[in-house]
Amino acid sequence: MTIENVAQDRDSTFSEASAGGKVILVGEHAVVYGAPAIAIPVSNLRATARVTNLLPGQGVVIEATDLGTEFSLEEAASPEALALQTTVRNALVYLTGNTDHDVRIEVRSKIPLARGMGSGTAVATAIVRALARHFIRQPSPAEISALVFETERLLHGTPSGVDNTVVAHERPVYFVKGRPPEFIRIGGALNFLIADTGTMARTRDAVLDVQRRWRLERARYEGIFSRIGKLVEEAREALAGGDAERLGCLMNENHDLLQEIQVSSPSLDHLVSVARDAGAVGAKLTGGGYGGVILALAREERPEVAETLLQNGALAVYSTTLQPSKVAPRLEGRGG
Ligand code: PMV
Repeated sequence: MTIENVAQDRDSTFSEASAGGKVILVGEHAVVYGAPAIAIPVSNLRATARVTNLLPGQGVVIEATDLGTEFSLEEAASPEALALQTTVRNALVYLTGNTDHDVRIEVRSKIPLARGMGSGTAVATAIVRALARHFIRQPSPAEISALVFETERLLHGTPSGVDNTVVAHERPVYFVKGRPPEFIRIGGALNFLIADTGTMARTRDAVLDVQRRWRLERARYEGIFSRIGKLVEEAREALAGGDAERLGCLMNENHDLLQEIQVSSPSLDHLVSVARDAGAVGAKLTGGGYGGVILALAREERPEVAETLLQNGALAVYSTTLQPSKVAPRLEGRGG
C-alpha cells in the first residue's frame, strides 16, 4: 500500500483508500485456458472507498455513489450490490473475524463501468484497502488480491485471476493462472491510449461464449490459445527491451487472434483501424471484448492519434504510460 493509496483522518475517524484501473496488454481469454497474459495498471483512473464510523446498532451500510444507491450488508439487492456486499463481508471477516460493525462504506469510481478496465476489481480492492486501514490491519497485496478474487468469481464465473492480481499489485504483471505472478521488466517508456467504444460489455458473457465455442472446436481453439501464449512470451521480451515496434506488431497479431475467437465487434474493429491508420504502432481490443475499450500503443511524436480517435467514434480516450523499471524483476510469493 503506498502513501497515495490511503488517507486516514484520525480526528473524524474516516479511512480512505483507492485502487487503480488496469488493461490487459496481451493474452486475454487464452489466460482462462492456462496461457500466460500480461496486464498493466492504469493508475491515473481510480476507484475510492471511504469508511466512516456509525453509531452503535446502525450496522454496515454501503453507499454506491455512482449508482445512486445505498444498502445494508444483508439487504437483497442488484447483482452489483451483491458484489459489493460480498467484498465487504469477506474483507470484514478476514480482517476482523466478524461482520458485527457499525460503519458506512462509501464507494465511487472514475473508471468507466463494464469496459474491461477493471472498474469492479478496483472498487473491491479500494474497499479492502480502506477497511484494512480502518481496522488497522496491513494485508499484503497478495492477500488483498486473494480476497478480491472471491468477488471476481461472483461477477465473472471462472476468472483467471489476472485482473485482481494487476490491480492489487499495481505493477505490470506476467500472469499464468494458478501460479504466483511475475513482475516484468520494462526497458523503455511506452505510451498507451485507451479508446472507449461506449458500449458496455459483460466479461462473463464473452468468457462463457468462448467456452461454448471451445467445446465445439477444441483443437482449433487450443491452437489459437497456444499462438496467443507464444506471442505473450514475445511481448514480454519486447517490453524488457523497450521495443515499441515489436510490441505493436504483437498487439496487432493478438487482435487478429481475438477476432478468430469472435470476441471482437464492429465498433472495436473500427477503433483499432482508426488508431493504426492515425499512426499507432499497434492496436487491439482489450479485456473480454464485445464492447468496452481498445488499447493502442502510441508513438510519442504522434499526439494526433487521440484526437483522431475522438473524431472517429471514440466516446473517450485515456492515456497511460509504462515507465522503465528501476529495479530487477522479482517473483512474488504465493497467493496471487
Ligand atoms: O475483465 P475484463 O473484461 O478485462 O476481462 C478479463 C480477461 C479475460 O481473460 C477475458 C477473463 C479472465 O478472467 O482472465
